Amino acid sequence: MIKTGKTHKRPVVIVRPRQVNTIIEEEQEFIDQELTKSSEKIIESGKSVLNKQKSALDFNNKVINLRSTTVKPTLSAENGSNKTDRKSKQISEQLTQNLENAEKLRLEKPHLFTKYDPSVGSPQIPFWNSFLTYFGVLIVLQIYGGIQDILRTRFGQKREGEHQQQADTKTFTPLYTSYEGFVIRNIYSRVKACFDKPICSVPGARLDLVTRKSKNETYQIKYEYPGTVDKGKFNLGSYNYLGFASNTGSCADKAVTAVVDSAPVICSTEQELGRNTCHNDLEKLTAEFLNVDEAMIFGMGFATNSMNIPALVNHKSLIISDQRNHASIITGCRLSGATIQTFRHNDMDHLEEVIRKAILKGNPKRYGRPWDKILIIVEGVYSMEGTICDLRRCVEIKNKYKAFLFLDEAHSIGALGETGRGCCEYWNVDHSEVDILMGTFTKSFGAAGGYIAGSHAIIQYLRNFNHGSVYAASMSPPVAAQAMQALQVIGWTEEGRQKIKQLAENSKFFRRALTEAGFVVYGDTCSPVVPVLTCEIGKLRRFQTQLVESGLAAVVVGFPATHMCENRARFCLTSAHSIEDLEKAVKIIRLVGDEVGVTYLAGKV
Ligand SMILES: Cc1ncc(COP(=O)(O)O)c(C=O)c1O
Repeated sequence: MIKTGKTHKRPVVIVRPRQVNTIIEEEQEFIDQELTKSSEKIIESGKSVLNKQKSALDFNNKVINLRSTTVKPTLSAENGSNKTDRKSKQISEQLTQNLENAEKLRLEKPHLFTKYDPSVGSPQIPFWNSFLTYFGVLIVLQIYGGIQDILRTRFGQKREGEHQQQADTKTFTPLYTSYEGFVIRNIYSRVKACFDKPICSVPGARLDLVTRKSKNETYQIKYEYPGTVDKGKFNLGSYNYLGFASNTGSCADKAVTAVVDSAPVICSTEQELGRNTCHNDLEKLTAEFLNVDEAMIFGMGFATNSMNIPALVNHKSLIISDQRNHASIITGCRLSGATIQTFRHNDMDHLEEVIRKAILKGNPKRYGRPWDKILIIVEGVYSMEGTICDLRRCVEIKNKYKAFLFLDEAHSIGALGETGRGCCEYWNVDHSEVDILMGTFTKSFGAAGGYIAGSHAIIQYLRNFNHGSVYAASMSPPVAAQAMQALQVIGWTEEGRQKIKQLAENSKFFRRALTEAGFVVYGDTCSPVVPVLTCEIGKLRRFQTQLVESGLAAVVVGFPATHMCENRARFCLTSAHSIEDLEKAVKIIRLVGDEVGVTYLAGKV
């Protein structure tokens, strides 16, 4: 392929038959849908009744039985007009079929049956605690921060290490004026020491932290490094879900061999001299693992999203993106120039509402003409929320409205499903039902980079028109070797199965133990990401500091990565831990949580 240095003009590649019909057809469809709305509502109300019951009952066995007894009579009562009748019959049959499938699956794979239920949702913080958090942020911070800012600008008050505008740029428009800037000056600088902690070991079951002390206890802007190491902290913060990020074992051996046989880097792009046999092999194995036609790999997970989404859609298209999608997806969406609409996190009813309205109204940038394509973007496991995407409903919706589906499996591939084949396996959805499967090798595989997998037509198109492989150097051979070996172990060996099973057991045990201790725990039972809310930023700092002092390395996340009042510790589990290790860790977390005052639901669960 000849490179011009300019953006390539994209040919019109029709990967599938035209997906969006004319407005008239859509309106007709919409009217049909309105006719059936009432019957669907009845079904939904049936569902919500049983979902509420579900939260009170033991999940095993009872849920499915309850569903069939509660929903079926409601459906048989539907005897309206012919059209409504036909539709409701179809829905009823579909639902019965789904329930039968679910029951079959539950009996075959009971360990999978711990699913996110939007009607139950995440536990809520008690009113008084949320009130105090909002009060602290909105009233105290505004007043206190405002006074601090006045002192800073009027009297040039300066803290050690804080940036000050140079005299010769005093007349320039300030670079940062946003509210985020205000928060960083007045809050972040007070809690900075609990973020970006440097480590100096393998991120295994335990890790070593570089000892670091902030010079000023209140404003943690500058640090002192005494040259010592805090050894052997229990690691609950790395994405090393299956323990493959290690300096020993078969993966490390393969990576070393790749350096000797090839080189640490290829020094060229895939389109030039950057393709080695290791890239071909990894692509083939990835496609085989996912049971799809073809896969392509990239040197960076972030770029896999941000460079491929713009190659798929343009200003004539519509992207419907989950509200909590990762920054790499958001960057890709913005670069594409497509119209972006969001739906509430993992709320498939809202997704359907958004898509239906968008089809009806058409593209406002093109005077209401139909969208040339609609791309729904979701993640398998959401890394800040710990939720698992409701993929089955998402696939139903995308098929119903003839949209494309892009699934980011960064945190779910390797970690979900009996054989680690991600969210599709978890929901028993065929991989071919998802148009674009994206994933990274950074988490479960202990390597780096990402992949896109799907049909032959889509991959061939992306090979030529995504800037990630046309303009960026290809994946480094030792990294490819590491990813390939991890993939082989996960996909085809008993060792891999055992690791996945251990991870699932650890995740369930850890989440249940913290919930029972009274923490506000977000997400799904099977998710290896377990976010625990601390709410107030001051508590976030104390919680993290005391955990580290007690021997646990944990990651905390705050605004703007989360909602301002939903600051949280984000525990990431790994198969490298045993249940006994986790029992000890939970005891410590519980003690620290009680002392800091973040076991908001203690005595209420
Ligand atoms: C959902 C999601 N997608 C993409 C990425 C980017 O992957 P990488 O870290 O491999 O660049 C991440 C990173 O954490 C992620 O969470």
